[in-house]
Amino acid sequence: KRIVVLLSGNGSTLQALIDQQPVSHYEIVGVFSNCPDAYGLQRARNAHITGHAVDHKNFPNRSAFDQHLLQKINPLNPDYVVLAGYMRILSSEFVQHFSGRLINIHPSLLPKHKGLNTYQSTLALGDREHGTTVHFVSDELDSGAIILQASLPVHPVDTVQTLEQRVKAMEHKIYPLAVDWLCSGRLIGKDSVVWLDNHPL
Ligand code: GRF
Repeated sequence: KRIVVLLSGNGSTLQALIDQQPVSHYEIVGVFSNCPDAYGLQRARNAHITGHAVDHKNFPNRSAFDQHLLQKINPLNPDYVVLAGYMRILSSEFVQHFSGRLINIHPSLLPKHKGLNTYQSTLALGDREHGTTVHFVSDELDSGAIILQASLPVHPVDTVQTLEQRVKAMEHKIYPLAVDWLCSGRLIGKDSVVWLDNHPL
């Protein structure tokens, strides 16, 4: 299956997807960034994938930017659009267009800690576990159907950096896995429910 990846920054998540591509059922056919200097674009080029910069600052509003993005993505015929550290909220038109085919990874055990700074809030609240969630994107921020979650214990000595490092290591395992399951037809999403077919893992 064909996937397009959207990002805004470093792109370590994209790198994990690139690294697992040879043993997966997906092909990354394009990478888009709203930040022209995102290192993720360089990672794409290093892997011989076309990286497109579409700077949101050149557009008058979100809707105009998203429409342009849609026009650039559509000719690539993606089966799935995969958000990997894409730091802009997508308009309802964009989300509807790719309904059931648009996924994200968010660094918390949703529905806890939606939005930004999840590590800070986890530590501030004294949570004993933290983690990450792969989910379908819906109109409401960080609220679509959950596909897969991974959790880990928070240690008393943890800082934002140590926690982020461990969560990211997990993200780099579960995101390629979830995308592979979707693309192989093993994972089926309908309305707000996601299930695995009955093949052994
Ligand atoms: C990841 O932690 C992901 O959960 C969040 O953004 C981060 C992206 O990191 N949505 P990177 O740019 O892929 O390194």
